Amino acid sequence: MSVTKLNIVILAAGKGTRMHSNKPKVLHEIGGKSILAHVIDCAKALNPQKIIVVYGYGGEIVREAFAQEDIHWVKQAEQLGTGHAVQQAIPYLSDDATSLIMLGDVPLVDVEACKKLIESAQNQLAILSFNKADPTGYGRIVRNNQSVTAIVEHKDATDAQRQISEVNTGIMAMPNIHLKNWLSRLSNNNAQSEYYLTDIVELAVKDNVNVTAEITTDEWSVTGINSKVDLSQIERVYQSRVAQRLLQQGVTLKDAARLDVRGVLNCGRDVEIDVNCVFEGNVTLGDNVKIAANCVIKNATIAAGTQIAAFTHIDDAEIGENARIGPYARLRPGTTLAAETHVGNFVELKNAQVNTGSKINHLSYVGDANVGQNVNIGAGTITCNYDGANKFRTIIEDGAFIGSDSQLIAPVTIGKNATIAAGSTITKNAPADALTFCRAKEQRTILGWKRPQKIKK
Ligand code: UD1
Ligand code: MG
Repeated sequence: MSVTKLNIVILAAGKGTRMHSNKPKVLHEIGGKSILAHVIDCAKALNPQKIIVVYGYGGEIVREAFAQEDIHWVKQAEQLGTGHAVQQAIPYLSDDATSLIMLGDVPLVDVEACKKLIESAQNQLAILSFNKADPTGYGRIVRNNQSVTAIVEHKDATDAQRQISEVNTGIMAMPNIHLKNWLSRLSNNNAQSEYYLTDIVELAVKDNVNVTAEITTDEWSVTGINSKVDLSQIERVYQSRVAQRLLQQGVTLKDAARLDVRGVLNCGRDVEIDVNCVFEGNVTLGDNVKIAANCVIKNATIAAGTQIAAFTHIDDAEIGENARIGPYARLRPGTTLAAETHVGNFVELKNAQVNTGSKINHLSYVGDANVGQNVNIGAGTITCNYDGANKFRTIIEDGAFIGSDSQLIAPVTIGKNATIAAGSTITKNAPADALTFCRAKEQRTILGWKRPQKIKK
């Protein structure tokens, strides 16, 4: 791009009354990321010299949410109009830069459209417009032949002007040297007694500065969010775009409309995802990974060939190649499963490192544990890792076999190739290559014993 310096002003002072929420409007989320974060990410992709956010209602919470970002925050205490909002940013605008004005509530804003606008704003005022079937409420683009002569707000428009379907998106770019001058000349002599940014169009015409409007056909990319209805519509649009991108990359989605990505999903070749899966944070799926229906997967890496059966919940875990997980498995933070591991139904793993070829197939809790290679953990095994105050680790060495319904009271080590008899409560280390059991001493039978009867009242 030929632009040397770019300033970006994001208008985000609006109250968002129609959201009926205590949370500032721009902090509501699309695809797991706040509305304003989408706009800021677009801004950052344009390599600006400065990003200036004009904030107002609930602003301190908004600022805190972006504490890590290099942003200049400007408070607009009273919302006196879009022109007034941009006036607040004047101290930050460099004379030798071009400004791009963006709206903080338009999350699907398109980087390429912004780039084009900035390029055409070198010596002129460039506006992004679109044709709206029902333009009610929008500022109308008034043209004389091809050149733009004014933007007239709906409330100020004549009946004839209200017939115009080309409307202002609110996104525009211009050289700062002109912008600063125009901002100093705005008045609030209009139907809403507001300082309209859109009045700069007529000022440009007066100053013989050319005004151009670039029409976008992607209406969603310029649609602002004002209500929960808008939020849910844009969420669906966002999700369908994510799904289309995945399909184009070769991912098989059993139903593109029943997938939610709230973060970033990276997929290898021949990945298959069944319906109703939710991916959060950063998730990477290797080649040939299959995810069955109704899985929730957050911040996870799943290596090639692994299959995740239905209703599995994964949070902050790493899974090696050709593993078999679920159905109904729960992998909690800090879990790593090596290649060829099997984790079955109603198994919960937390902060457990499980090595190659080990199996935990039924109804177990394995937490704070190191499990070696080719270990078999029987149904209903529990690592008792917590004494009510502190947590301890369980070490299960290679080739061990843990009989069903055993409790391993940590800290404890089960030696290599050790066998633990079913129903044991193990409190001391179990030696390698031996059978260890710890059960009630004797099995008794009472012949002729009768079950209790219900007492009639
Ligand atoms: C504005 C435009 C209109 C355009 C429409 C597109 C003006 C005068 N009108 O109208 O031409 O068609 O957007 O949606 O610019 N804001 C502030 N401070 C204020 C007022 C607004 O920060 O004092 C912010 C809002 O948070 C919002 C944006 O500016 O992000 C637009 O404000 P809004 O009130 O929605 O403008 P409209 O009247 O809809
Ligand atoms: Mg408005």
